[in-house]
Amino acid sequence: MSFSENKPAQKLADLGVTQPHEIAPLFTEIRARFDADASAAHDEFTWKQFRDAWLGRKSGVLTLITDNWLKPSPPELKRAVGAALNELRAHVESQVEARRVAIESGADEAALARERIDLSLPGASRPIGSHHLIRQVFQQIEDIFVSIGFSVVEGPEIETPYYNFEALNIPEFHPVRDDMDTFYLDLPKGAETPLLMRTHTSPMQIRTMEKRQPPVRVIVPGKVYRRDNPDATHSFIFHQVEGLAVDTDITFCDFTGTIEYFVKQFFGPGVKTRFRPSYFPFTEPSVEFDVSCIFCGGSGTSASGGTCSKCKGAGWIELFGAGMVDPAVYGFVKYDPKKVSGFAFGMGIDRLAMLKYGIDDIQVFFQHDARFLRQFP
Ligand code: PHE
Repeated sequence: MSFSENKPAQKLADLGVTQPHEIAPLFTEIRARFDADASAAHDEFTWKQFRDAWLGRKSGVLTLITDNWLKPSPPELKRAVGAALNELRAHVESQVEARRVAIESGADEAALARERIDLSLPGASRPIGSHHLIRQVFQQIEDIFVSIGFSVVEGPEIETPYYNFEALNIPEFHPVRDDMDTFYLDLPKGAETPLLMRTHTSPMQIRTMEKRQPPVRVIVPGKVYRRDNPDATHSFIFHQVEGLAVDTDITFCDFTGTIEYFVKQFFGPGVKTRFRPSYFPFTEPSVEFDVSCIFCGGSGTSASGGTCSKCKGAGWIELFGAGMVDPAVYGFVKYDPKKVSGFAFGMGIDRLAMLKYGIDDIQVFFQHDARFLRQFP
């Protein structure tokens, strides 16, 4: 008898079953069919179909057996059918549940396998950058000055002419303004004051003294702007560190001693310093600091015996401008020039970095060429 006959849909009498001993083989057949169905249920969808086929209220196999075999049976068959049906029901219910558990945990396993993180796989590589050489030199300079009691302050890159010039004792028609030609901002008509990109970090001398009473010891790292045409030593944007120390008893000796200390810390103990008279409207006296040439050791002669190309045989390299704060400047910040004295300096960081690391073109600082940057990790 083939299953396609779907025996549970027929009455026992129609199947020709009349004796109790004929019941067991019938149920064995049904059970075999069930077991085959059970193993074919392999995912949630086929499991649901399987469950409904056997346990469905209206036309599930168990319902059909109850309706067609059990209910209409004469009492002598009913017992045997009832007992076999109970056994079958217990088997069906437990197996349907067991399949469900198996399918679910199988799905979990598949998901686990799918989502497993393989820690041995190479990750997405993110190349680690480094500080730009200018940033590194800023840091070196800050470390040196902080170690001797200076603090670091920063100020605006857009300034008013008052802070950039006037309060630094540079009135409107002073000729030094020619060297500091810069970028003025286009402002709406009627703006209170013109605005410009600062030409040096010196405006922070004024801003600091306006806010603080002596003793003042600060350095100011930052960007500055000038209308210079770019070449190997000029850029319209470059970097400075300003320094300012004002107190009641600061002398020229404190000034030169501090600078010398810094230069030796920065370039190494072997270098010598010297200063020459110079001019800045906001320092008096003003000096230009030189360092003995770090390329030829101050001899003026290169290793090959010719003239040192870096210092052009002079043995000295110009480093930066500085001086004792001009008493006129104290007038702008309401310090008493009779009571206080101090010094200020302003160094070009790009220039210091070029000297220290033997770089001969300032433009490389701004070109972001990884081949250059990688040399200073
Ligand atoms: N601000 C000057 C410049 O940029 C440098 C300087 C600073 C000189 C402080 C003296 C004192 O050229």
